[in-house]
Amino acid sequence: MTDSKILYGGDYNPEQWPRHVWEDDYAAFDKASIDTVTLNVFSWATLQPDEDTYDFARLDEIVARAVEGGRGIVLATSTGALPPWLAHRHPEVERTDFQGRRHVYGQRHNACPSSPVYRQLSAELAGRIAERYAGTPGLVAWHVGNEYGGFDGGCWCDLCAASFRDWLRARYGTLERLNEAWNATFWSHTFSDWAQIVPPNMLSEHWRGPDHTAFQGITLDYRRFMSDAMLANYRDEKARIREHDATTPVTTNFMGMFRPIDYHRWAADLDFASWDNYPPGPREHARMALAHDVMRGLKDGAPFWVMEQTPTITASRDVNPVKRPGVLRLWSWQAVAHGADAVLYFQMRQSKGASEKYHGAVLDHAGRTDTRAFREVAALGAELAGLGDAVIGARTPARVALLFDWDSWWAAEMTDGFNRHAKYVDTVLAYYRALWQAGAQVDVVPTTADLTPYDVVLAPMLHVLKGDVADRLAAVTERGGSVLASFWSGRADEDVNAFLMDAPGPLGPLFGVRVEETDSAEPGVTNPVTLADGAEAVVSAAQLVFEVLVPEGAEVVGTYGAEFYAGTPAVTRHRPGGPDGDGGEAWYVGTGLDDAGVAWVVRRVLGRHGLVGPYADAPDVELAVRSKDGVRFAFVLSHATGPVEVAAHASGVDLLTGRAVRQGETLRLEPTDVVLLREDPTGAPA
Ligand code: GLA
Ligand code: ZN
Repeated sequence: MTDSKILYGGDYNPEQWPRHVWEDDYAAFDKASIDTVTLNVFSWATLQPDEDTYDFARLDEIVARAVEGGRGIVLATSTGALPPWLAHRHPEVERTDFQGRRHVYGQRHNACPSSPVYRQLSAELAGRIAERYAGTPGLVAWHVGNEYGGFDGGCWCDLCAASFRDWLRARYGTLERLNEAWNATFWSHTFSDWAQIVPPNMLSEHWRGPDHTAFQGITLDYRRFMSDAMLANYRDEKARIREHDATTPVTTNFMGMFRPIDYHRWAADLDFASWDNYPPGPREHARMALAHDVMRGLKDGAPFWVMEQTPTITASRDVNPVKRPGVLRLWSWQAVAHGADAVLYFQMRQSKGASEKYHGAVLDHAGRTDTRAFREVAALGAELAGLGDAVIGARTPARVALLFDWDSWWAAEMTDGFNRHAKYVDTVLAYYRALWQAGAQVDVVPTTADLTPYDVVLAPMLHVLKGDVADRLAAVTERGGSVLASFWSGRADEDVNAFLMDAPGPLGPLFGVRVEETDSAEPGVTNPVTLADGAEAVVSAAQLVFEVLVPEGAEVVGTYGAEFYAGTPAVTRHRPGGPDGDGGEAWYVGTGLDDAGVAWVVRRVLGRHGLVGPYADAPDVELAVRSKDGVRFAFVLSHATGPVEVAAHASGVDLLTGRAVRQGETLRLEPTDVVLLREDPTGAPA
């Protein structure tokens, strides 16, 4: 089933409804071409009513009805929310929050990951579910837990403290090495016994919140540890599933660019990546594209799933606008365009009570199928069914890589000094947006990724340099490629201690530049940076961070226009192989250029490699390509708010309409329009 079409459906909670409602649901699913249901996400309390009793009667019925309906089944392990009896009987399973308060029963995503009772019982439940339902017809995937870290991103209890010490022992071996990594002579922090180490929270190293720590090394290690502790929970369950089912893929639903968990540390343990796409606003198409690409990058470019999106509205925001007509379809195809092989919803039927009773659903409280929302869901279902297996398994042919690094994210945002308003994802997104608008196909990869397939590699705010990444970036230019780094790159080593040399640290020789000082300003305060390359010049209103650069081999491309450093370099370009060599280029951007400035730089970098796409100058028109067996599938998506006309970049057939398209013909795109062009491989007119 996973090979025959893009899966369509989502979270379905029949346990909340009497049986006759199920029949209405399945009839509606048929109308909407819904072929997949995610079951059993939050049912622990009924599956295990007390510590010694398991009761699968209702889940048996639910699964049987799904099988009878011929659905694909994504079966969850139900461990994302604790049952009340468990918290009552074993208070240790409850989280201790960042303030140091031990929680009592409530909410979800709130177990202490280090609790032996939680670990044992969650694994046991997963094992029993796997034992019972392995081999179920239509079982397409196991869904472990739910949105790990979703509540405050961790636990700071005594059990976690003990596990943290074990984790540190494994990482550092000796206290000498740990004290060195944490630069413990600062503020008299030299630890003489492992038992002296406590979790960094508001009772210990922090003030003002998670981003204000006296010891970045301690906090960074705790985040790494916490990410690994939750990963251990996932692994516990996966191992038990594997005792009963050797082949069905196992995953959990991620949250895109979610700070608390380093998804790169998890990626190897997922059989495929999946994530829940709830953009923070209605005009976040570039951010969504970036998040899709981050998810695709987890498994080396393999297709991922959208495990959840809302068909209409969310419920958790202060203001929850409906998706405008066409937007659900546009965003769903955008996901497919970036590599999704499943498009699933939260939720199939709106729940009757509790916090998500007004969250959008395929079926509303009245169960209607004659609403605009349902019609759009059904139309999309028909379209996905009509596409069949055309793009299943297809990959993104990217020649551009963007490095994404949780350590840099954590470190840059918890570091005192410089500017608290300069954020990691904002910076990455600024560069990604420019790539996106230019129509470049981008792989978003960890710093450990093989960079040899890429002509262009961008490293925005790569604050922490680990391993041999500096050498591998240099190798990109040695074979003629281009690299770009932004302000705050190359500042700290893996222990987040400063390099004892000029910034950008070990990147200095590659970029041919050093940072003499780093100025900062409040948001809104700008410094005009003149960017000039030959005849063309633009002025970019730079803000937040202003590194005063001293070229050491690089040429100056951008110059500050204000402040005592007016006339000094803000942007440089280095040709490490010499000005006449055929080596590549290394761009260093020492300031927060505005979008136009970033676009100016990025287009120059792409242009050198012929990677500026055909729709680069049509604002908010996206081109995303997947390819399979030598056939290119080009998705042209209009996020524009008015009609746009572009010249078709290739001949082929629009698989969504069957219409033949000739290269060069005018494509008129209305807002939210999608064209899925199967390009004619010969390039001949269709
Ligand atoms: C998350 C969860 C779901 C649901 C939705 C609602 O993604 O996984 O259980 O709460 O959000 O937005
Ligand atoms: Zn804990």
